[in-house]
Amino acid sequence: MFGARCLLLALRRCSSAPCPKHKQAARLRVCEALEAQEVAGDIKVQGWVRSVRSQKQVLFLHINDGSSLESLQVVADPTLEHRDLTFGSAVEVQGKLVKSLHRMQNVELKAENIRVVGPCDTLMFPFKPRERQPLEYSRQFPHLRCRTNTLSSLLRVRSEATAAIHSFFKDNGYVHVHTPIITSNDCEGAGELFHVRTSNKVQEPGENSHFFNVPAFLTVSGQLHLEVMAGAFTQVFTFGPTFRAENSQSRRHLAEFYMVEAEMSFTESLQDIIQVMEDLFKTVTSIVLSKCPQDVELFHKYISPAQKGRLEQMLKNKFVTIPYTEAVEILKRAPQTFTFQPKWGRDLQTEHEKYLVKHCGEVPVFVVNYPYDLKPFYMRDNEDGPQHTVAAVDLLVPGTGELCGGSLREERLHFLQSRLERLGLADAYQWYLDLRQFGSAPHGGFGMGFERYLQCILGVDNIKDVIPFPRFPHSCLL
Ligand code: 4AD
Ligand code: MG
Repeated sequence: MFGARCLLLALRRCSSAPCPKHKQAARLRVCEALEAQEVAGDIKVQGWVRSVRSQKQVLFLHINDGSSLESLQVVADPTLEHRDLTFGSAVEVQGKLVKSLHRMQNVELKAENIRVVGPCDTLMFPFKPRERQPLEYSRQFPHLRCRTNTLSSLLRVRSEATAAIHSFFKDNGYVHVHTPIITSNDCEGAGELFHVRTSNKVQEPGENSHFFNVPAFLTVSGQLHLEVMAGAFTQVFTFGPTFRAENSQSRRHLAEFYMVEAEMSFTESLQDIIQVMEDLFKTVTSIVLSKCPQDVELFHKYISPAQKGRLEQMLKNKFVTIPYTEAVEILKRAPQTFTFQPKWGRDLQTEHEKYLVKHCGEVPVFVVNYPYDLKPFYMRDNEDGPQHTVAAVDLLVPGTGELCGGSLREERLHFLQSRLERLGLADAYQWYLDLRQFGSAPHGGFGMGFERYLQCILGVDNIKDVIPFPRFPHSCLL
């Protein structure tokens, strides 16, 4: 990624300093230094010490600055050793990049000067050199766990996946929309809302009790706002924080998570939505695998050894589609007993999702056409009987279960109006009905849970380990 060219640029930048006498060493990131082949002149690397090994003749350090999983080896004269030069300390090392005699790396930094910028009390520091702690242990230290290999790899994968998602949509002609975080509607109608209030304790007499005059909540989905925008831009997406007050301690739920949502106008069938979901998953995953192979490998090697093969299967095979009605039949015929008895009209439980994925050969499965009564008001009636099924789709993936949820939206005014009236929501959603009155086009979209996506590609069991600062019932650290 950062080759000799990048290095030359850095050196050039440095050599244009006003006074040649005070020429400063070029500052390189660890990943740049590791990729460099040969370097003339001094360089400077800043980062945190991952190991210190002092021998009679030589002092070895490993410095990591978060730019790569690999640390840069520093070799120094033992006289440069300092009592503050310990595991975890922040340092700046100046010296020359030289070819390494070590088989594992191209170069090493021959230090001329080592400055401890910030010492670290190793006795109190919760992590120790060369110790792989369980993820549950690291979770207790959300302010420090990004200094571990696992979390730093995770955060680089997260960052690359975010960029890949944006480029996928950009390359396919979608407009990015910032949908609001504070909203006055409950898109999913499930009542899992966080109320937004001011911290003012005393209310002025006569003053409206709501800051916004109406009750306001943190968004559970940007879908309705995306539908507005799909009515002008045809293809839109959003990717932002999403909030659900679900009282769940499960390994798949957070109170604050990130959702990728897309909305397309002029759809012809649910297949249009399904195709985008599958393309998004495969394209983004291929980019992540090519951009950060070492980081992904760490998970596939140490956290979930079966995941590499699973992921290859997912990328190689076409995803399967089965109607909900058939899925229930498959579950009823299953040779195993479920805690929740499968029955038409009931939601699929995690145990059912797992079985269906296994039944289909451990590839992702689209379950389509769910019962009308199970799904939110905006989904399109399939008209296959009186309010029988809607054009909904859930994508179930091996290990994680539900990864995406989407549907065609009810674009026909009279269908939507009567559903909203039955729910007593017609007044509140007049603006949404307007969209069906002024140039309504068939449309649909979906949402993908970003943390569940990361769990799925990396094989991380608990969702709390794929987000920097997890929020869940009874916990909001930092
Ligand atoms: O299936 P959901 O509820 O769908 C919607 O919100 C639609 N309005 C999206 C749309 O069509 N634009 O949520 C979408 C996905 C789920 O499949 C799941 O992956 C994730 O969001 N998700 C959660 N992830 C972590 N923690 C939670 N509490 C989640 N709830 C949903
Ligand atoms: Mg869902």
